[in-house]
Amino acid sequence: KHSIPARESQRGGEVFPRPLTFPPPCGMMRVSSKKGGNFMNEPFAFYQQSADYVRARMPFEPQIAVILGSSLGPFAGQLQDPVEIDYSEIPNFLTSTAPGHAGKLIFGTLAGKRLVCLSGRFHSYEGYDFEQLTQPVRLLKLLGVRALIVTNAAGGVNERYRPGDFMLIADHIKLNGASPLRGRNVDEFGPRFFDVTRMYTPELRALAKTCAGELGIRVQEGVYFFMPGPQFETPAEIRAIRALGGDAVGMSTVTEALTAAHCGLPLLGISVITNLAAGMTGAAVTGEEVNETGAAVAGRFSRYLTKIVEEMDV
Ligand code: HPA
Repeated sequence: KHSIPARESQRGGEVFPRPLTFPPPCGMMRVSSKKGGNFMNEPFAFYQQSADYVRARMPFEPQIAVILGSSLGPFAGQLQDPVEIDYSEIPNFLTSTAPGHAGKLIFGTLAGKRLVCLSGRFHSYEGYDFEQLTQPVRLLKLLGVRALIVTNAAGGVNERYRPGDFMLIADHIKLNGASPLRGRNVDEFGPRFFDVTRMYTPELRALAKTCAGELGIRVQEGVYFFMPGPQFETPAEIRAIRALGGDAVGMSTVTEALTAAHCGLPLLGISVITNLAAGMTGAAVTGEEVNETGAAVAGRFSRYLTKIVEEMDV
């Protein structure tokens, strides 16, 4: 079905092109279907293997999934009757390397809802290919979740934002790096070409705004601008991002949002503004500042997220 351009090259003693079969055999070994390019992605069965493992061990079918950003992990401590599954146990799954990211799924109930939290997320700066970054959200989709909440720490680019503010993500800009949906489309998840005009579900954003009002919590609404990191941005990049319409800048979230849009998963995105972006104050941007602000707002953030979970109709 797929015609792969013929390319004769020597790599590690192997002769390319090799005969390609699709779907590739899916045994107990890790199935990798990258041969001489990114034409192909893992087949649906690859994702099913991960989901089968988790499904056999999870206490219930979760309604809502929450991906916890840097320093926002304490939220998971609120779950009742938690059941944890380490990422390292899950077949065909990624391993978390970022500091402040624990690397486990945590199932539990909160405010009358069945939740699963990803404590520890995956970023392109760790070295993953963008296509690999579809895995967490595809796993959640196969576990049966009906809505996804993604959270992150981000730098404030909008001059009205203050460290400690929350920003509901209205939209994003990703000019760096490939789409996670690049390569052969996995039709079981969604169509080749897909709409992203409602990627950050407007109804969930409206609900989150109402919840903020009820709790007296200040929330911004803005555009998240993806930068690949791991370096923080240059002051010139931040000026460019502001001119292009970014309100906050960060190194995560967009691959998850695109994967959710592809498989039709309703999505709410919340950034915690942990610092003013590069060049906006005289000071350097540091990981310590990000973590300190994250820790300082953790209580307020958990209260806010709990209220949203309680009010969500899933
Ligand atoms: N830039 C990119 N990512 C971030 C920042 C920032 O200033 N703060 C927290 N995550």
